[in-house]
Formats: sequence, structure tokens, C-alpha cells
Amino acid sequence: MSRRVFSALAFSSLVMAFAPLPVMAQGAGELVVYCSVQEEWCRPMIQTFERATGIKVSMTRKSTGETLAQLKAESANPRGDIWWGGTGDPHLQAAEEGLTEPYKSPKLSELLPQAVKQAELSQYRTVGIYAGALGFSFNKEQLAKKKIAEPKCWADLIKPEFKDEIQVADPNSSGTAYTMLATFVQLWGEDKAYAFMKALHKNVNQYTKSGAAPARAVATGETLIGITFLQDGVQQAVMGAPLQIVAPCEGTGYEIGSMSIIKGAKNMENAKKWYDWALTPEAQNIAIAAKSYQVSSNVKAVLAPESPRLDQIKLIDYDVAKYGSTAERTRLLKRWDAEVRNAPRN
Ligand code: F6P
Repeated sequence: MSRRVFSALAFSSLVMAFAPLPVMAQGAGELVVYCSVQEEWCRPMIQTFERATGIKVSMTRKSTGETLAQLKAESANPRGDIWWGGTGDPHLQAAEEGLTEPYKSPKLSELLPQAVKQAELSQYRTVGIYAGALGFSFNKEQLAKKKIAEPKCWADLIKPEFKDEIQVADPNSSGTAYTMLATFVQLWGEDKAYAFMKALHKNVNQYTKSGAAPARAVATGETLIGITFLQDGVQQAVMGAPLQIVAPCEGTGYEIGSMSIIKGAKNMENAKKWYDWALTPEAQNIAIAAKSYQVSSNVKAVLAPESPRLDQIKLIDYDVAKYGSTAERTRLLKRWDAEVRNAPRN
């Protein structure tokens, strides 16, 4: 990704103030939202949308990989209308597999280039709604107590002093953990990446279902280190946890958090209403009140002062098309299951 994309975003977003929510026509009907961000952000989005439109929304919150699996399982009789949030790779896979519906929102012209690229790559079956960089966080108090030097790089995480001290999600269920896997492959090549993940496995105390869970565990001191998107660590720090976020020295990957309309949606018109609304700066600014510090895709959305500045992080040129393809994602996850998940821990 071009750093300029994010620099431009940081600049334009900084100068924008919160704008009032547009008054939308009252309309009847329902909408089923599959939400793949954290529940704290899903809920105010839904409440605001319901208030503005009169549409009754029901919501299921699941991680990105889990939601993709649900879409596949329900493809003969889709129960969801819109899939909002979660990392971009599984949304691209859903597009490739025809599980989502093409739609060109009139709001596309207001979005950052990388968010539009996500739409173009998928023949308009998905679109970028936010971005976030991968990294890790540690509990400062516990690290000081244990008298361990601060980890600064991915390479530090395989040191023996971090045995059983690291938490990360399972890349099958979590888009975050898949982004980590794909990041290591892009940083070092596939064999080195798997060798690294096997070494990391020795230090992992738990593979969680959800990608953000390790940041909460760092906050409570349940684990010393958590690998997550940086914004998930920032959220805990803002809430007062003694948590330090780290953008790893070798460079890191990122997500283009995405949104897709589910193919065969029973409430197609309402799904499109949500889609257009979710791309407005007003809807995207709800993130900040929900302490979600992703970088929004609408150029007029506010960039929170707490949001990690992506133009100041060493980002890799994440190959969205390759790592969001069904063949590559399926193959890499299969290899992770075979070589990492059950590898010896001693
Ligand atoms: O809401 C936090 C977040 O980290 C998003 O930025 C990301 O898209 C999503 O969670 C990924 O969740 P998971 O790893 O559980 O699929």
C-alpha cells in the first residue's frame, strides 16, 4: 500500500469535524447484519441506523473467518443481508466464491483509493470501510515485574523468556490472525514464515477465536503479550490498561476492513441502504465513540487522535489480491493446521 494514501487520509481526516447524522426517510422492514468488528462498535452502528431509518435490525457478531464459513453454510438459503466489518481477505474470498452481491455505491467516489481497490478487485462485491495495521502489545507492569526487555520486533516474540506469555487468535476463525500469517509469508517467504510460526507456537498460551481478544487479555494481565491489530491495543490503553502497543521493527501487514452484501439477501433494498449509509463520514465517525480506532475509508471521516498513524508505520505492500484468493487462503490455512497448530511445544 502506498503510504501516501494513508498520509493523505490522516491529513484530510484531521481537519474534519463531526457532522450531524443525515435525516433519512422512515422506512419499514428488516435487516440482518453479520458484524465482524467488536460488539461495542456493532451495537451503536445498529442503534443509529434503526433510529434514522425505522428499519428493524437483527445482528450476529462473529469473527471474519467464522462469518465466511457461515455464509458458505447458508448459501442455499441465506439468512443474513449484509456483512459489515472484518478483515478484507475473507470478504474477497466470499466475492470470488459468489457468496456476495455486486453493488456500486454512489459513495464510492468519497473513499480512499485502497478502499475502492477492494471494490474493483472483487467486481464490486465488497468495499473497504477502514484500515488498521497489525502489531502486538504488552502489559508494561508485568514486563517490568518480570524484568524482561521490551519486545520491539517480531523476532523478539520467539525468545525463550516469552514461553507461554503470548496470545494470538486462530487464523481459521480470525481475520486478524490470518493477516498475521500472510504478513509473515510476505515478509520472509513461506518456509521461513512457517518455521517462525512453529517457534512462536512454543510461546503461545492460547489461540483465541476472536482477533481482538488477546488485547483484552493483555489488559487484564491474563497474558503478557497479545498479537492484534494496533487499534485493539489502543482501545485497551485508552480505557486505562497498562498496555504498550508495538509496530514491529521488521515491518508489518495491515487490513482493509470490508463490507459486503450477501447474495440472495432477503432484505436487499435495506442492505443497500445500510451499505450507502455505512460509507458516509457520519456513520464512520461512530467508531470513535465506540473507542474503535481504525482509520476510516471515507476521506471526510474523522481520524481520532488516538488512532495509530499508518503513515508512520513500516507497512509491507500487502498483496490483497493474492492473500484474499480462495486458493491461497485455503492452502495457507491448511498448512498452518498441519504444521503449526499441533506442533510440539517443548
Ligand atoms: O474490531 C476490531 C478488529 O480488529 C477489526 O479491526 C478487524 O477487522 C476485526 O476485529 C477482525 O476480527 P477477527 O480477527 O476476530 O476476525
